[in-house]
Amino acid sequence: MNKKTLKDLDFKNKKVIVRFDFNVPLENNKITDDTRIKTSIETIKYLQNQDAKIIMLSHLGRIKSEADKAKNTLAPVAKRLSEILKENVIFINETRGTNLETAINNLKNKELLLIENTRFEDLNGNKESTNNPELGKYWAHLGDVFVNDAFGTAHRAHASNFGIATNIKNSCVGLLIEKELTMLNKITVNPEHPFIAVLGGAKVSDKIDVIKQLLTKADKVLVGGGMAYTFMKALNYKIGNSLLEKDKIDIAKEIIELGKEKLILPIDFVIAPEFKDIKGKITTNENIHDGYEGMDIGPKTIKLFENTLINTKTVFWNGPLGVFEMSNFVNGTKNICKTISQLKGSFTLIGGGDSAAAAVKFGYENKFSHISTGGGASLEYLEGKDLPGINAIENK
Ligand code: 3PG
Repeated sequence: MNKKTLKDLDFKNKKVIVRFDFNVPLENNKITDDTRIKTSIETIKYLQNQDAKIIMLSHLGRIKSEADKAKNTLAPVAKRLSEILKENVIFINETRGTNLETAINNLKNKELLLIENTRFEDLNGNKESTNNPELGKYWAHLGDVFVNDAFGTAHRAHASNFGIATNIKNSCVGLLIEKELTMLNKITVNPEHPFIAVLGGAKVSDKIDVIKQLLTKADKVLVGGGMAYTFMKALNYKIGNSLLEKDKIDIAKEIIELGKEKLILPIDFVIAPEFKDIKGKITTNENIHDGYEGMDIGPKTIKLFENTLINTKTVFWNGPLGVFEMSNFVNGTKNICKTISQLKGSFTLIGGGDSAAAAVKFGYENKFSHISTGGGASLEYLEGKDLPGINAIENK
């Protein structure tokens, strides 16, 4: 990698601003998955060992109103981080101002301070999400050095990543970003073959570029989940009331043409008369009758996908294959997750988001070579796009 890493900079006695991605799922202000907090620990410990004063920033959720602020404070993150590290984390419930500046000036070496949700600034004139230049400059002036370790946000050019990086003298990426790129490069640069990509999730529109890119690299691309129905429609199968992106049918046709025998679509489905967690019916072939909608891939498709995955050397998986949040429609996602997790001697990578959540739900999260902390970021990296949060970091 041509970007500076922690090893390239000196942190002793320095005020180090670190951007993490603490955008964790919350229910009633309680964290339901703390993976993104745990994956920040290595960088925090490294900086503590180097005698840095650590000033942490992150966004959480999307802030469009005052009510969103109450639901998305970083206070629970500060508490969880302090429990994991077994030490105090100073939490400042502001994103700017004298209180924050005084607390930073009073920081001692190795101490940790977390600033409130950077997106609270989206409600002020100084917007985080539109990379307001004054805001990036303001946050940059709070420290001496910037470390970006927020891989999940690397595809955004916001004030708290791009803005700080472009307004500070010294910057580098943290240990998580380094690891994420090393792992993703095993897919983008000379992947071991056979290489199979498994793609699901609701929308074709989110995955067009990545499917096209993967079709140039993978030996097979298996498609399931909500986005499969637009492909089925493009092939003139009946899809009943299943999810359809009408305006993407032509693109689906184009991808089918491009993929030829590389692209493998479902051959049966589990269907239901409404989008509810009720016992489904299994179709006898690719068609879904009127009055029904597709909820999961069917047993013949599971077998077909499993057989295709045998002896694979590299697997990339992004997106659930059915509505796995509902107990009647877990089978597709659960079985394929299990099959990938049991492949011996292969490199298996989950591209964040819902498929990562599924692996945790089914208890296979420790059986993959890597689970990315960035859904959108890992897809954009695989598409070959620039990640502005990383690009803005100093070159070696
Ligand atoms: C994510 O969860 O994908 C990242 O934290 C980015 O969040 P965003 O999509 O709200 O920018």
